[in-house]
Amino acid sequence: MDEWESPDYEPSLPVSEKSNPFTRDIDRASPSGIVGMLEACDAQMFRQDRGTNYQRLFDEQVVTTLTEVAKRVELILKDPQDSLVVLSGCGTSGRLAFFMASRFNEALKQLNRTLVYSYIIAGGDSALLSSQEAPEDDPELGMLSLQKVCEAKKKVLFIGVSCGLSAPFVAGQLDFCLQHPEVYTPVLLGFNPTHQARDEPIPGCIFTFHSVAQRLQELSQRRKAFLINPAVGPEAISGSSRMKGGSATKIVLEVVLSAAHAAAFSHKSVASECILQHMREYERAVEVTYQQKEGIAAVVEAAGRSLLNEGSVCYLGWGPMAILGLIDASECNPTFGADYTDIRGFIRGGYKDLNNNEGPLSSLGPEFCIGHEDFLQHVLPGLADKDTVLLIYSQSDDLHEVLNLGRRVREKTPNLHAVHHRTDSDSAETPQQISINELCSSTLDFLWCGSTPATGNFLHQWELSTKLVLNAVSTGAHILKGKVYRNHMIDLQVTNSKLYRRATRLLQTLSGRAESECEEALLKAIYGADKLMKDIISSDITAHTQVARNAKKVRRRFR
Ligand code: F6P
Repeated sequence: MDEWESPDYEPSLPVSEKSNPFTRDIDRASPSGIVGMLEACDAQMFRQDRGTNYQRLFDEQVVTTLTEVAKRVELILKDPQDSLVVLSGCGTSGRLAFFMASRFNEALKQLNRTLVYSYIIAGGDSALLSSQEAPEDDPELGMLSLQKVCEAKKKVLFIGVSCGLSAPFVAGQLDFCLQHPEVYTPVLLGFNPTHQARDEPIPGCIFTFHSVAQRLQELSQRRKAFLINPAVGPEAISGSSRMKGGSATKIVLEVVLSAAHAAAFSHKSVASECILQHMREYERAVEVTYQQKEGIAAVVEAAGRSLLNEGSVCYLGWGPMAILGLIDASECNPTFGADYTDIRGFIRGGYKDLNNNEGPLSSLGPEFCIGHEDFLQHVLPGLADKDTVLLIYSQSDDLHEVLNLGRRVREKTPNLHAVHHRTDSDSAETPQQISINELCSSTLDFLWCGSTPATGNFLHQWELSTKLVLNAVSTGAHILKGKVYRNHMIDLQVTNSKLYRRATRLLQTLSGRAESECEEALLKAIYGADKLMKDIISSDITAHTQVARNAKKVRRRFR
């Protein structure tokens, strides 16, 4: 049993908010120490513990539920008329909903099949690339956006993702599904046990996330709703659910949707053994990734140096891996108080390759300029030694293009690195590949060997591996910059109720003072006031977070 699983370990906190004992000293670790700790945390996702109350990814009950949900998706794939599978979430959960819906729609397109996947992200498409934390608190917005996407549909499988079982936006959608069982079958995906779901009242609602999760649990006995909530252990940086929560979301959704596609189009019936096999392939992918621990640490060190010297880190990616770069970069603002220029992602064809519902968003501002063209035009001219650039590509991408872009970057900075995936069937390095390696000061060259019975290719492993590398780079770099104390984010924005509560708790942990005193200190900092006036005290958290959103930085001397 891991220390965090003990009933006495931070008993008031759900798993997703607990601090991970492995990373207590991550703020003082060397780059390779940081990566070693991340490896230990990620390995926890696949632990099969006996003797604890926590359900885990490989548990029979979880695998059975995944099998059941895959069968529901299969039914929709076989008879897509008036049906839809909707994936929804906030922040990274919504970004992964988008990623998954796009990838599996793409697979359907290639088979000339009707597209059945839709995504919803709180805050709309701009939240794919930037932090929009406030809509997470809005259950009505969640419900209305679900209604809109599902107009005129007769059968909807709704998969709501909230790693912490906490987002009111998702609770509103699930509640709506429960009220309309003739159309909707709700599935909740998260990584806390049901009793740890957030029970804080939601303004204007008679339900909490907890009460919705309980209703789902009851209905799950009769297969009228599904709950997928294995514990994957506390995050390396407390509450940073983009990390393990995001990885486990990707694993679970891909396992379910791949099994459904195989059943619908390749006549392989959905079986729990295949689901297990696919999950083991991910476990292996995590191991393969961390076999290059030292290489990852070298990139973490370079990126950390860039941030410390006020430079930037740019991810230049191709295909789906580039989208993972955009996702990773987008989370640095709310997690570390970073500017969008600190860590940025770029994708080869810009919005054409992103293929999001709302189309190009570049008019919203420079942080929404995401194509390689934008990089060449706006970033490359100012690139200097202090900046780090990471090329992210695979054997399926155009190596000439990678080489050309690498050459142009290399003229500006020696700090060029690469993450590259290939399979053993293509193990001989091409001349372009050799030239790219020569340009780079370090290359993480992942060579994937063996077979992948579950999906027939390594794409899912490449993606998960890339996600882990990028999470390590952005988290590690910000740790080296000083944005983490012990294993807590200390420059987070207090832009929604979950983050408000987390900030109050952080003050408690660090000061040892009472909750009320800490909340008072937080409010004084948010409002920049020495004394709290009545109107502030009587306002609700929504009002506080609105003020906090406009503050550049909560800066205050504590007395
Ligand atoms: O509120 C910010 C945030 O924590 C993001 O960082 C995260 O991706 C998002 O909320 C979603 O959280 P959850 O999946 O737990 O609802």
